[in-house]
Amino acid sequence: MENILVIGAAGQIGSELVIALRKVYGNEHVFATDIKDLPRDLKDGGPSAILDVMDDKRLIHFVIRHKITQIYHLAAVLSGNAEKLPLQAWHINMQSLLNILDLAKVADDVHRIFWPSSIAVFGPTTPKQNTPQLTVTEPSTVYGISKLAGERWCEYFNTGYNLDIRSIRYPGLISYKTEAGGGTTDYAVEIFYDAIQKKEYECFLKKDTALPMMFMQDAVDATVKLMTAPKEKISVKSSYNVGGISFTPEQLAEEIKKHIPDFKVSYKPDFRQQIAESWPQSINDTQAQKDWGLETKYDLEALTEVMLKGVGEKFGKY
Ligand code: SER
Repeated sequence: MENILVIGAAGQIGSELVIALRKVYGNEHVFATDIKDLPRDLKDGGPSAILDVMDDKRLIHFVIRHKITQIYHLAAVLSGNAEKLPLQAWHINMQSLLNILDLAKVADDVHRIFWPSSIAVFGPTTPKQNTPQLTVTEPSTVYGISKLAGERWCEYFNTGYNLDIRSIRYPGLISYKTEAGGGTTDYAVEIFYDAIQKKEYECFLKKDTALPMMFMQDAVDATVKLMTAPKEKISVKSSYNVGGISFTPEQLAEEIKKHIPDFKVSYKPDFRQQIAESWPQSINDTQAQKDWGLETKYDLEALTEVMLKGVGEKFGKY
């Protein structure tokens, strides 16, 4: 029997992953936790608690008391926000992971951990197209530096302590349930809110900035697949490339215009343009396909349709 702890459950990934995990493991076995109040459906659907991952003593107490067997640590400061307070972001992103890894060494019941990495581990010197699993990783953002260091720590604990820590380098994640906050790929979520509410959007990236992206349902499915795969299939002990689809703001705007013909987009790049330009435009994820059967179902057309419907329903429009 598994008891799952999700940290950062109120966030963009957590709020949807908790629901999927409860379907797999049973509602009572998935604990949704965050430092902030959790969405109603997560509180009603199973156990939940306010929990600060930086509070290592309370964390270990919680894990032992609830006989936790798997931890999903999703709390992090994203790329744009991290640039505003680099040292705080480094501290939060690194120390929280180290708290979990250190805990896994001593909490006997904990046998598997998930921690998200990101395409941000790549940098300006990385090949931009079809970026391989194993390549140059010289990130230029504090977020990317923390994710790369985190990957190294995961591999170190995986091999040195025989733990089972699994990870995905997520591309930009697109969803309508919970908005992301402070990321560079967030334009691809914001654009839908503004398209529905105002029929115009000012994009903080240039129109031809291609980035790898993925619809949340695909990201959740990939995460569950990775975490339920037999251990011997997991050949990458740091973090798996996962590519999804690649498109530019202009291509996304054109797709939205097929549904909202009078939608207007203007472009006013800010500091996040430089971050976006340092990241790959497309990702090679054949290793994830081969090892644990990664699949992507949503292309640009399907993603646009479901996002417009989802955001539209929130505002009683479309
Ligand atoms: N989506 C994240 C960000 O933009 C990258 O992992 O910060």
